[in-house]
Amino acid sequence: MNIDWNTLGFHYTETDYIVRSAYRDGHWEAPYATRNKYLKLHVSATCLQYGQEAFEGLKAFRGIDGKVRIFRWQENARRMQRSAEGLKMQPVPTDIFGEAIRLALKKNKRFIPPYETGATLYFRPLLIGTTPRLGVGPGKEFEFIVIPSPIGPYYEGKFHCTSFIVNRRVDRAAPLGTGAFKVGGNYAASFRATEAAHAAGYDCLFTDSKTHHYIDECSAANFIGIKKNTDCSADRVQTAPLTDQFTIEYLTPRSSAILPSITNDSLMALARERGYKVTRRKIRVEELSDMQEAAACGTACVISPIDKVYDPDNNRTYHLTDEPGPILTELYQALQDIQYGRRPDTHHWCEVVDS
Ligand code: PLP
Ligand code: COI
Repeated sequence: MNIDWNTLGFHYTETDYIVRSAYRDGHWEAPYATRNKYLKLHVSATCLQYGQEAFEGLKAFRGIDGKVRIFRWQENARRMQRSAEGLKMQPVPTDIFGEAIRLALKKNKRFIPPYETGATLYFRPLLIGTTPRLGVGPGKEFEFIVIPSPIGPYYEGKFHCTSFIVNRRVDRAAPLGTGAFKVGGNYAASFRATEAAHAAGYDCLFTDSKTHHYIDECSAANFIGIKKNTDCSADRVQTAPLTDQFTIEYLTPRSSAILPSITNDSLMALARERGYKVTRRKIRVEELSDMQEAAACGTACVISPIDKVYDPDNNRTYHLTDEPGPILTELYQALQDIQYGRRPDTHHWCEVVDS
């Protein structure tokens, strides 16, 4: 094995084992580890024919104390259960999900990146419909698979700003469709928009599919913004006592078509602890001019600050920050400190595994 942990990007690196469990005759089999990364799948399986597929993404971190922490996997289990119900698949019970993640970790210990490399062991749980069917409808058999891979930061260069372009041409999910579920179809549906954005030198800022007035998501991540305030200097952020209600407002979109991000949920909890006002509501694109900081957030990038947003339909550029701003930088560090065991995990977000 010859992995340069420090230069690892967000790419698949094959590990020794994946973990599998099939649902047949009304029950899930015990998860087992296998070296075989290929599936024997009928060509008419419902995952191939009708997109019966859901996935997840979560990380294990090698901490400052040498211990390994799996971050909020129970939330991923719950979200995958909601995705399964959304596509009429059999939900994976939380205990099977957890057992599979722990087994995948145990069998691939040598792929857990060392502390301070910025790399982590990422788990990609996958749920697919395996019943052969040509008639349109859901199947009865399913397979749950956990694919581990060590990964580096999603955006190269660790913590730096990225630029977004407002998209009103391609919808990733309908307002009452599957946007709130983590299903492959949403991603395939977004490729036209994300590839066009990349070709123009940006990441893609999705607007709501009904009116295209409101911010939905940042590529495959949630949007967060910090409202302009006269008193948010770096010094002020670090010295403000928790009870000091100076008005920093953390804004994030409310939409039926966005994925409820576990990272965003965690950051909102940290923001509330700091006395910030946390608001989840519809956010018009033009409100970007009232924000002093903004970022994309998700498991892969944690927080990825946004320096500017270009709106091609109105030929307008919203300038945010050239460098990551103080409020989101502090929240990023706080969350990473918990994930790496440098700060008490008062929320009990991490499962600590001796490894
Ligand atoms: N939105 C989309 C579409 C995503 O794919 C992801 C990644 O999982 C997120 C948001 C962020 O969610 P989380 O923080 O749970 O990783
Ligand atoms: C994330 O985990 O934050 C993502 O954006 C998921 C993506 C890599 C599919």
